[in-house]
Amino acid sequence: MKKIFGFIVIASFFASCNSDDSDMISYDNPELSLQIPADFPEVNPYVSLNKPTKYGTELGKKLFSDKRLSADNTISCSSCHIQASAFADHNPRAIGIEGRIGLRNAPPIQNLMFLKFFNWDGSRLQLENQPLVPIITHEEMDSSILEVIGKIKDDASYKELCKKAFGDQEITPDRIYQSIAQFEYTLISANSKYDKVKRTEGQSFTESEAAGYATFQQKCASCHSTELFTDQSFRNIGFPLNTDSNEAGRGRVTGIAADFMSFRVPSLRNIEYTAPYGSFGQFATLKSVLDYFDNGVLEADNLDPIFKNNGNRIPLTELEKENLIAFMKTLSDKEFTGK
Ligand code: HEC
Ligand code: HEC
Repeated sequence: MKKIFGFIVIASFFASCNSDDSDMISYDNPELSLQIPADFPEVNPYVSLNKPTKYGTELGKKLFSDKRLSADNTISCSSCHIQASAFADHNPRAIGIEGRIGLRNAPPIQNLMFLKFFNWDGSRLQLENQPLVPIITHEEMDSSILEVIGKIKDDASYKELCKKAFGDQEITPDRIYQSIAQFEYTLISANSKYDKVKRTEGQSFTESEAAGYATFQQKCASCHSTELFTDQSFRNIGFPLNTDSNEAGRGRVTGIAADFMSFRVPSLRNIEYTAPYGSFGQFATLKSVLDYFDNGVLEADNLDPIFKNNGNRIPLTELEKENLIAFMKTLSDKEFTGK
């Protein structure tokens, strides 16, 4: 009761200084208590400025699947970020409005709260700065934030959610970005078999998964490290090149040659659900990624030393590949994907 009383006092203070002409009903909009999985990397500091709340998250979730965010009302965020695919999709390169093909493969949206950089090249450091990118990108939604607001501002359900989340009905650009980010922060995946084995919740690895894990620690974990299975560094590992002249990997952000065609090491959580693989979907299957490592990657001046010092390859026997794939599939979180 105390809490509710306190809230009403604060809410009516704000209600008296905004121009909202609706009634004075105020809503309790509690912060969500997110379960931070043990041993995950540090939370991105920007999260503390935009903590997910009950209604902020609800608003973000609704926006995430609203096709009116695109110029011709055909594409929502969830057209390319599909829950059953861990919020990635199955196109090699993303397909936006009118069938326009984008530069890169859509990454999964998971555990973003723990990431320091967003996008394949780390072009965004704050998740709240990300939603505008697809909204205005020609090959994605090709709209503008004012056009979006024009379409949704009179929608009664948005007005109500905005009021519940932010205190008044006005739909502003910042509220759109903040609520979408809040929704994304809640997408935490940490209930795979791997997690359950680690937490000793009665499950154990099969022989093949255990052997795969051992190989993984030896040959992969220097980059796919931490509980996110990425060290969040940018590296050129000699994958087949995207010949689109707009692509330069991390070099696109920093402009330096040493970052040319370097990409953020991807998390391998839910990797079973996110084929095809690579920054523009070069590989249809996990097996083809492993065959490529084994056969040898492309030479480059800035090829990662782990490859350069080992004859540009990661040698793997067929059995090791099979076991590695079995291990990677233990990172699948069916609760997360709703499968
Ligand atoms: C046409 C398909 C498409 C649509 C629509 C789309 N995205 Fe994406 N999304 C992508 C692609 C492709 C990337 C990778 C971009 C890059 O690396 O430059 C991406 C990257 C992201 C990332 C970064 C993830 C990470 O791991 O760093 C986030 C977050 C995201 N999108 C959220 C959204 C939101 C929110 C919307 C709706 C406002 C949206 N996307 C709409 C295809 C799409
Ligand atoms: C030197 C660091 C490094 C090592 C070692 C490494 N990887 Fe990667 N891995 C990366 C980077 C960087 C990418 C993204 C490259 C790109 O798209 O150009 C990647 C991509 C992948 C992908 C595709 C992921 C996706 O979402 O598209 C898989 C699968 C993968 N690695 C598995 C492995 C396995 C298994 C091993 C061990 C046999 C391994 N990697 C070793 C850095 C590394």
